[in-house]
Amino acid sequence: MPRQLLLHLFRWFEARLDAVFGARWNPLTQLGALGFFYYWVVAVSGIYLYIFFDTGTTEAYDSLEYLTRQQWYAGGIMRSLHRYASDGMVLMMGVHILREFAYGRFRGPRWFTWTTGVPLIGFVLVSGVTGYWLVWDELAQYIAVESAEWLDWLGLFGEPIARNFATPKSLDDRFFTLLMFVHIMVPLFLLLFLWIHLLRISRPAINPNRGLAIGTFVMLLALSLVKPAVSQAPADLTVMPAELAIDWFYLAAYPLMQVFSDGAVWGMVVSISLIFFLLPLLPPRWKDEAAVVHLDNCNGCARCFDDCPFDAIAMLPRSDGLPFEREAVVNPDLCLSCGICLGSCPTAMPFRRRSSLVAGIELPQLSALALRDSLDIPTETSADAAARDDAGAASSGPRITVFGCAHGALPEGWARENVTVVRLPCVGALPPPYIDYVLSRGGADGVVLCGCSESSCGFRFGPEWTKARIERRRDPFLRRRVPRERILEVWQAPGQPGAFEAAVAGFEQALTALPKTENSTPSGAQRDAQSDTSRAEKEETHA
Ligand code: HEM
Ligand code: SF4
Ligand code: SF4
Repeated sequence: MPRQLLLHLFRWFEARLDAVFGARWNPLTQLGALGFFYYWVVAVSGIYLYIFFDTGTTEAYDSLEYLTRQQWYAGGIMRSLHRYASDGMVLMMGVHILREFAYGRFRGPRWFTWTTGVPLIGFVLVSGVTGYWLVWDELAQYIAVESAEWLDWLGLFGEPIARNFATPKSLDDRFFTLLMFVHIMVPLFLLLFLWIHLLRISRPAINPNRGLAIGTFVMLLALSLVKPAVSQAPADLTVMPAELAIDWFYLAAYPLMQVFSDGAVWGMVVSISLIFFLLPLLPPRWKDEAAVVHLDNCNGCARCFDDCPFDAIAMLPRSDGLPFEREAVVNPDLCLSCGICLGSCPTAMPFRRRSSLVAGIELPQLSALALRDSLDIPTETSADAAARDDAGAASSGPRITVFGCAHGALPEGWARENVTVVRLPCVGALPPPYIDYVLSRGGADGVVLCGCSESSCGFRFGPEWTKARIERRRDPFLRRRVPRERILEVWQAPGQPGAFEAAVAGFEQALTALPKTENSTPSGAQRDAQSDTSRAEKEETHA
């Protein structure tokens, strides 16, 4: 399937770029943010150009020549930045679309972000084409004639637009004023649609990592100095330009107009747009069920609201008479079933009695109780457990529980005799007390947390929130008593065969060298999964 192939390609490249740049600087995981960055470079350089640009059939060309030649150190560089950052935007947008498509991020509740992205393609392209047109060189003349004939095919305009370009006399200066207006208004609409595009994303990443931004800018600057943007020969409507250097980022469709009829090119544009718009409706249908709030257990703390990556939770006035101000309410149309809210809910407390282990918010497919049941907690006496631990450690190494996300480096179907694998929709769905629980109840000698590298998380904040919870920077905190040397964090995109296994093997060795701790060799009383260790619960809830 082409999408799967594309997905493999992206994963492979992302893993390689992670290795070269480090996960935080990986440009492939910050394409949208880079798009914004290019937009601002285009906007600032555009304002500079606007100050010196003269609208008119000869003035337009001359004013740009002045900037390029007489003022190369300022205006020339600004012109080049304007052009190369615009190209960067198209490149970013193309790869961004391919990546979102490869990861299937057009289905289910994501339909809105996908669909509102589609008009952006048109806005970006029209901005660029009108920009080339304004230069009024031979390339602009070619664009003008082809675009006019193409638009005239629709038969919407009383007077054919192409007539404006029939002779030098038929073109007047007002046309350039109109063109300049379009060239400024369309990017403003682009900005408005970008805002709409991100409406359903909480804390959207609209700024790339600072190092990446600086690096990108230096590259643009270097390119501007080495290969400054220049005009081609001035337009002359009495002759057809013979040879042209085309900007393939913006003008790739123009040569098509020579090969196919205008009607056929319209057909292609309409069909491709329709495919983009209809993609979210294609099978398979989105089946994941949205998170559910259990009001009896919700104390209105708003941690789930703060952590949800897709703004799917609202905090509304209490509706059930319990003595709390607010309650969490999930909008199922926005929920992507990542489970991050379960990970953030302080009531997801595995030390509770079985009958009362219901969190304030859960996924129907992943409840707090089901998560505890998936752990391998021994129920025998401490003497039996100690004997079994010794035998087990001798035969197959220390016991490990892996909490792994379904999209990160944890290989599918990976299993080992001494390892319990708990697969989660996102690593952020793990409430930190479960780490304490599995270690203190003798379920494992060590815990592995495995998720995507930070900036490539499909649910955006899984690794970030998990790290912050373990480092006690974000509620709910992992208790201090949990020995951090018994936790291994593997933040890696898939696509690095053997990397996860090697990390676990190293961890096993490290665990073997550790002395048995009180936490990892629990007493019989501690091991009773039915007991209610209210002290631990209170401590965690108020941490
Ligand atoms: C100028 C063009 C564009 C810019 C600057 C842009 C920018 C962004 C940004 C900043 C994000 C949020 C990333 C995050 O915080 O996780 C995003 C998400 C997204 N974009 Fe775009 N975008 C553009 C065009 C498009 C287009 C053309 C499409 C598809 C047709 C698209 C589809 C998506 C989707 C599906 C997401 C959501 C990802 C998710 O839910 O995790 N974008 N975009
Ligand atoms: S985190 Fe849990 S307790 Fe807090 S508001 Fe959300 S559902 Fe309620
Ligand atoms: S499952 Fe994810 S998207 Fe849905 S409400 Fe919880 S945190 Fe938000």
